[in-house]
Amino acid sequence: LKLNLDRSFFSPELCSAADNRVSEALNALTALKNHSCRGGEFTGWFDYPQLHGFDLNQKIRTYRQKLDFEFDCVVVIGIGGSYLGTRTVAEALQNEYLLAQKSSDRRHKPIFYAGHQLTGNALMELLSALDGFSPMVNVISKSGTTTEPSVAFRVLRSYMEKRYGAREASQRIVATTDEKKGALRQFADANGYISFPVPDDVGGRFSVLTAVGLVPLMLAGYQTEELLKGADLFFSEVRNGLSSDHPVIQYATSRKAAYEHGRTVEVQSIIDPKLRMLSEWWKQLFGESEGKEAKGIFPASICLTTDLHSMGQYVQQGTRMLFESFVSFRTSRVHSSSVTIPVQNDDRDQLLYLEGKTVDEVNEAAKLATKIAHADGDVPCLDLEFDEPLSERSLGYAFAFFETACGISAQLLGVNPFDQPGVEDYKKNLFALMGRKGYEELAKSLANRIRR
Ligand code: PA5
Repeated sequence: LKLNLDRSFFSPELCSAADNRVSEALNALTALKNHSCRGGEFTGWFDYPQLHGFDLNQKIRTYRQKLDFEFDCVVVIGIGGSYLGTRTVAEALQNEYLLAQKSSDRRHKPIFYAGHQLTGNALMELLSALDGFSPMVNVISKSGTTTEPSVAFRVLRSYMEKRYGAREASQRIVATTDEKKGALRQFADANGYISFPVPDDVGGRFSVLTAVGLVPLMLAGYQTEELLKGADLFFSEVRNGLSSDHPVIQYATSRKAAYEHGRTVEVQSIIDPKLRMLSEWWKQLFGESEGKEAKGIFPASICLTTDLHSMGQYVQQGTRMLFESFVSFRTSRVHSSSVTIPVQNDDRDQLLYLEGKTVDEVNEAAKLATKIAHADGDVPCLDLEFDEPLSERSLGYAFAFFETACGISAQLLGVNPFDQPGVEDYKKNLFALMGRKGYEELAKSLANRIRR
């Protein structure tokens, strides 16, 4: 399993600017490995599978085996890093059409999401759908105090207690949170919930390979050990010392070169809608890690070929602030065969030239056609291709790759990759506007501003 990074459609000028940054990037990687970079106290995700992940996975498996009741869906309550990784794996690997027919995808139980937004509509719909299932609830919050999941958890808890009674409800709820502090920790302990810790030295957006992702994914039937093995493959490349042309170095240095040449938006282009959530996870990872101190590349995404018919025009000819990174997995994907365009003795639909080809072959050609067109339209293009089909293993490798690339890239930019001071501002305003104790002064000053 490896990643091929192709820079043939990145301009020669940018390639050489990137190459000038290689030794800086290698130093940044060493600082990540030694935990000596800015924010080094939050680099516990690096090499986590080997150090703790496999043991933890075994503990979760034992917990899963001991559950003495049936369940047929998992509700994940969490926001940001507390749900995006799980959703990435689930939406990449599940068969959404079979899941819609309740329990027909025998390998995977459906995962429903709550606490990642604040709409009453979604909660109402979830509660009424749950009546037709027998749910497990995994509430996930590192801080244990985030408003969105806290609100959703109160609603879901009350639903579960009404439906199952307090005792069984507490067995059907599993909490993933800080080992010692936070409201969720206290609540979980007081109610006797089984719980798994989010490590102190791992921030939310870097936590998919900890209990944050492993618990819900294992409950829903995904091969979490494979996820860890894939990530460990990447980390072992780093452990063994990688060369200066390794894709993780090339990706980080290419981003830096593009940014310094005025390319302040990176568009991640995927060619399979199964990767939509990977793009969402990637946006959070890079956006929260780099967007600070009035710096940072804005991470955006499009899905080919769908969005070529909506955003393609902009990418081709709009403001020249973009560079593009195509991300794909080897095309045979989750299924062993593909759909072939039927052969027929009739060319009235003008598809004779495609007869006998697979739809995936056409998709690959569309990707190449797009890359050439965008490069001709002055959009520097990188192409990242994981050389295995989509699976837990290849996704684990991809998570480890992007996390490491992000840690290097943010250091090249000169910011602390592991804090998110800006996220706090809206939270404080919300507390003040909704009358939380301790926020009275802020509430007064906001009231004055609203009146103006
Ligand atoms: O990366 C981060 O730290 C954040 O995006 C968090 O994942 C998000 O805010 C959720 O926080 P918590 O898990 O504390 O509820």
